[in-house]
Amino acid sequence: MPAIGEGPGYPLSAGSTRISKVTYEAAASAAPETKAPVLERSAVIDLEAIRHNVRQFVAIASPAKVMAVVKADAYGHGAVQVARAALDAGASWLGTAHISEALALRAAGIDAPLLAWLHTKESNFAAAVAAGVDVGISGWELDAVVAAARQQERPARVHLKVDTGLGRNGSTIAGWDQLVGEAMEYQDEGLLRVVGIFSHFAVADEPHRPETDEQIALFREAVAIAADAGVDTEVRHIANTPATLSRPDAHFDLVRVGLGLYGLSPFAEQSSQELGLHPAMTVRTLLSNCKAVDAGQGVSYGLNYRTTAESTLGLVPLGYADGVPRIATGGPVRINGVTYPVVGRIAMDQMVVDLGPLDPDTARSLLGAEVVMFGDGADGGPTADDWAAAAGTNNYEIVTRISSRVPRSYVNEIPSDAAAAVPAEAGTDTP
Ligand SMILES: Cc1ncc(COP(=O)(O)O)c(C=O)c1O
Repeated sequence: MPAIGEGPGYPLSAGSTRISKVTYEAAASAAPETKAPVLERSAVIDLEAIRHNVRQFVAIASPAKVMAVVKADAYGHGAVQVARAALDAGASWLGTAHISEALALRAAGIDAPLLAWLHTKESNFAAAVAAGVDVGISGWELDAVVAAARQQERPARVHLKVDTGLGRNGSTIAGWDQLVGEAMEYQDEGLLRVVGIFSHFAVADEPHRPETDEQIALFREAVAIAADAGVDTEVRHIANTPATLSRPDAHFDLVRVGLGLYGLSPFAEQSSQELGLHPAMTVRTLLSNCKAVDAGQGVSYGLNYRTTAESTLGLVPLGYADGVPRIATGGPVRINGVTYPVVGRIAMDQMVVDLGPLDPDTARSLLGAEVVMFGDGADGGPTADDWAAAAGTNNYEIVTRISSRVPRSYVNEIPSDAAAAVPAEAGTDTP
């Protein structure tokens, strides 16, 4: 297998002619719900993959429950569709960063327990209380939520967050006593209910690191302090995907799973496949140009790449406006069962692959061929992990950054995933 950027043609690998499990197998199937529409470019989301992954996590976490983390439009996969599929497959809770994201799920008729944890002074706490959205509290939000509860004449549901080492949100352990005490006073006044206590890991994706043990110990301490103060929580939760997979001692009552739902591995040393997870997103498009060029042809802005012999350049109509990282020259795409690295600079709308010397008929036949940027990798094709490596980032970012210019389409949607939206006025509906 030639290294990325070596030699003309540069196929990274040649395999079967099956380009994408979702699109090709689905297209071959008679079952209508498995068909992805042929679009110029699309991110095809396999909801059966989501359901499979959720079932895996439900089994791993049991007896703890699973919160499906669907913030950031479900890491780019579509929050409403993923939330429905996850609940259908056994998730009990949903989690978002923003209250506005949670309200959008309520507006779609989703009434499962739902927590939002990242706020500003402009966050709509009143709407959260009215919609029965649980609110994560790190400190200052307590008074804001209580004001909202008074306004709505309805107790808020809160989860108190303790910073056990990540250094982002959450009360310091030094301020924990006070936060718990104030929350309990408000609970006694009937203004809120402390539903949960939670924290978040810093290095659970690196299982050898000792800080995770320290965070678990501190979390246990915080839980004990709260229990001494009379807090009787429904759920204690700290585990994300990597901790759910590697630290059963961190499961407590609830695990908050994001990345794993989407079928991606949080670990450098273990692939999705090795974890039994199915990547759910396939980003694909159609080759939009294919032309013979002479040796020495420069490619894309900066002319950083030149052909070394007569060759054929294929134009892939995806660029950084679609969420392809501009820095990721060398990232792989799959065309007719062959994987090629992107050559030259990635531009706003497009990127180029050097297909090597091709006879004119073959070149013509490639125009309009399906190009897979990444998918589940089952056929040896490119994955989000490959693009993460090319961009020097992680797989979280690769799927999440696929932009709204790339339409999402869904395969293996079942009726409950596709349940007609029950529009509710965000902020006034009660779950
Ligand atoms: C507070 C919180 N919990 C859980 C998650 C889910 O993490 P992961 O995607 O690693 O499962 C996130 C995501 O960053 C988060 O911010």
